[in-house]
Amino acid sequence: MTSDLQHTTVLLDEAVDALLGGAGAAPAGTWVDATFGRGGHSRRILLRLGPQGHLVAFDKDPEAIHEATRITDARFSIRHEGFRHLAELPAGSVAGVLMDLGVSSPQIDSPGRGFSFRFDGPLDMRMDTTRGESVAQWLATAEVQQIAEVIRDYGEERFAGPIAKAIVARREERGPLATTAELADLVAGAVKTREPGQNPATRTFQALRIFINAELEELQQALEASLSVLQPGGRLVVISFHSLEDRIVKQFIAQHSKEVYDRRAPFAPPKVMKLVALDRIKPSAAEVAANPRARSAIMRVAERTEAPA
Ligand SMILES: C[S@@+](CC[C@H](N)C(=O)[O-])C[C@H]1O[C@@H](n2cnc3c(N)ncnc32)[C@H](O)[C@@H]1O
Repeated sequence: MTSDLQHTTVLLDEAVDALLGGAGAAPAGTWVDATFGRGGHSRRILLRLGPQGHLVAFDKDPEAIHEATRITDARFSIRHEGFRHLAELPAGSVAGVLMDLGVSSPQIDSPGRGFSFRFDGPLDMRMDTTRGESVAQWLATAEVQQIAEVIRDYGEERFAGPIAKAIVARREERGPLATTAELADLVAGAVKTREPGQNPATRTFQALRIFINAELEELQQALEASLSVLQPGGRLVVISFHSLEDRIVKQFIAQHSKEVYDRRAPFAPPKVMKLVALDRIKPSAAEVAANPRARSAIMRVAERTEAPA
């Protein structure tokens, strides 16, 4: 079932070092890889954990789950669900959480998944193909205003309005869009200025992918969940690939790494900070040269402070 397409793991050593950083050699405890993908980070984490260590991985994608079943290590388990479900782990029970956000190369490079304007295929873009609506199904009935908002907010696309109108006009004239090539052609006709080196459909595809997978909402929920499941000293390591994701991670860490005073109780002691920001790391020039998909990656590392309430 799994395609032969490969995924080159981004920031492999850096992420695993940051995650296990303070834990010493062969650590025990429960660790989370929230985005299994093809298991690059997971396999490396398992190599470094001791016999009492456990790794719980998540992925929405059935092909990633299939790949995970090849790992027979008893210290490993995989959950086929969105990573917001890490909230279901016991409070204070987790030694570290890693998130390597976005899509894997096999997802982008499979025409049948509909993630890329570079290949013609069904207009799907769901990470979890076993549930939810595809992009084609959503675009078949969504209001023009909703479509414009999604493309503007998640794609930061100046021509969101004209693109949304063109999608609805085409739907009314010739029926709904069904393929990536149909959408890419339609967007190319509606985008009036070109960004050098960028396909005019780039922003629209990014926006629809983020929306249909509820990527930013789920990221926010998973970050909140990590605060309750991480034990004191536990690390949160997040690799993001575009500014909308990185902004959420950066603001989340900033918000929880300062003392908060309650304005209604000015003499009460401040709420203690829950995170310490440790690092912001980008891939080396050598990594970007070897794997161009690493070029926009930013990894942020924070550490849980006090015990959960
Ligand atoms: C960049 S890849 C991870 C690659 C992985 N670190 C590796 O080395 O093979 C991102 C993976 O996370 C999954 N994913 C993205 N958002 C998710 C979410 N909210 N919940 C669960 N899985 C998610 C995608 O399906 C994809 O397989």
